[in-house]
Formats: sequence, structure tokens, C-alpha cells
Amino acid sequence: MSTSGLPDLVRDLPHLRALVESWHRAGLRVGVVPTMGALHQGHLSLVRRAAAETDRVIVTIFVNPRQFNSAADLAAYPRTEEADRLKLDGQGATLIYAPDGDTIYPPGFATTVSVEGLSEGLCGAYRPGHFAGMATVVTKLFTQTQADLAYFGEKDFQQLKIVQRLAVDLDLSITVIGCPTLREADGLAMSSRNVRLSSEARAIAPVLYAELQYLAGKLAEGRRMADVVDAAKRLIVAGGYQAVEYLELRAEADLAPLDTPLVPARLLVAAWLDGTRLIDNIAVPSLV
Ligand code: PAF
Repeated sequence: MSTSGLPDLVRDLPHLRALVESWHRAGLRVGVVPTMGALHQGHLSLVRRAAAETDRVIVTIFVNPRQFNSAADLAAYPRTEEADRLKLDGQGATLIYAPDGDTIYPPGFATTVSVEGLSEGLCGAYRPGHFAGMATVVTKLFTQTQADLAYFGEKDFQQLKIVQRLAVDLDLSITVIGCPTLREADGLAMSSRNVRLSSEARAIAPVLYAELQYLAGKLAEGRRMADVVDAAKRLIVAGGYQAVEYLELRAEADLAPLDTPLVPARLLVAAWLDGTRLIDNIAVPSLV
């Protein structure tokens, strides 16, 4: 079993279980980085963090059909398993767990994990069923891997909050760690969807982060969200985006809607560019 170099590939659940049990018997801590493949530097930073904090790192690769809102989006999702394995070379991943569909959803599968409250609004309002599909597969990946720590990017901030909630609510013995968003040099948040952008759209894409920073500055000056949000949405569209789905200020702790950052907060946005839906968020410090 490699702890450096190219990770081994495991598809089979009994094999995975036997390995993890042997690691736990040896007193080793196991980290997991759940992914849908199409790995980029953001994923690799999660893997490196997991490798720094645990003894064995499992990277899961499973393109989860239950969290896609359209068959076309699922079909278009990049599947690059061999390239992903090569990208993991030397990053500290011990193994890739890439189960097939039946290993995650055996015939007759009838259980859904649904996290109320946190799953509503923001992306939840525009992607019906997405978070239930995501929460269900993440629960399966946690119980299948039996990992002690899990690493998620803050770019999908609502997802991170939902996963932290479900782990606590279901008494899963796993700690879910949120890791900072990795950005391209021009500020665009790294995402597997960025490869879908044309070169023209790629040049426009950083407008989203620039607007988040500008808006965060206005809020820090004491401006209310209600007074500045419409102008910020207009600027995103003027910058070349087709449409803004949402641009909201939410409390970091429970995603409660806010007008001013009187508690640690996040500005969260989803917008369409070149037929691709991009999301991003930034932290807004509390004014008090
Ligand atoms: O963020 C993702 O890539 C997915 O939502 C996850 C967490 C791997 C579940 O399919």
C-alpha cells in the first residue's frame, strides 16, 4: 500500500473495509477527500492537507447521478479517472476508492439523507434534490470508508455546512474540516466546471470574485445589503455574465440571511456564464 507516489485503485467495498480495519487496528488515522474526479489544484490541496493531518488518505471518485439536476449536466461531467490518478502522484494519497454505481446504490436502495434548513435557499432553491443526493452519497462514503477526518473545500460552502450538520446529527465518528478555496491567479475559484468555459468566458469569469470583494468592502463600510445588492448584480451582468441566480449575505454558523454582518458572515453567489453555472463565496468579518 503506497503512502507516497501513485495511489492504489480500489473499487471493491470488502477490500476497502479490510484495508481500513487494518489501519485502524494499527492505530492509524484515516482521512478522506470525497470528489467526483476531474481533479484540480483545489482537490490536490485538500489531499495534501489530509496527508499532513492523517496517516492514510483515501480519495473517493464517484460521479454521483443523484446530485445532478439534468441528464445533460450528468453526461457532460468530465470523467478523467486515469488522469486523476496521475495528478495524485506524490500528493500523499494512499488510495483512490472508485466504487461502481451498485456499490453505492445497491438494487432496492431506498434511503435519502436530507438536511433540513441548511439545504433550503441559495443553491438549494435552484437545484431541487441536489443537496439530498449529495448528503446521501457523502453519508455512504463516510460509512463505507470509516474515515476519521474528512476534507471539504469552502468553495461549496453550503455543501460544507450540510455535511458538517449531517455528521453531527447522525453521530458519525468523523470530523469534517473545511479548507480555504483555491483561486487562479486572477481570482477565479478553482472548479471542475471551469474547463467548460470558452477562452472569452474564461477572461470574463474573475468578475464574480471581484464583485464579491467590492461588495464585502461596502458591507465593511457599514452599507446594508439591501442598498447595494441590486447594483452588484447589475455589475456582474455588465461584466459579461448572463444572469445572477443569487447573491446573498448569510451567517457563517447557520446560513441565516443577513442584511449587515453583525456576526461572522459569508457573501455567496451563483451566476451563469457561457452556459456554465459558477458559484463562489467570501468571508465577511463581523462589524461588531
Ligand atoms: O463536491 C463534490 O465534488 C461532491 O458534491 C461530493 C462531495 C464529492 C459528493 O458527490
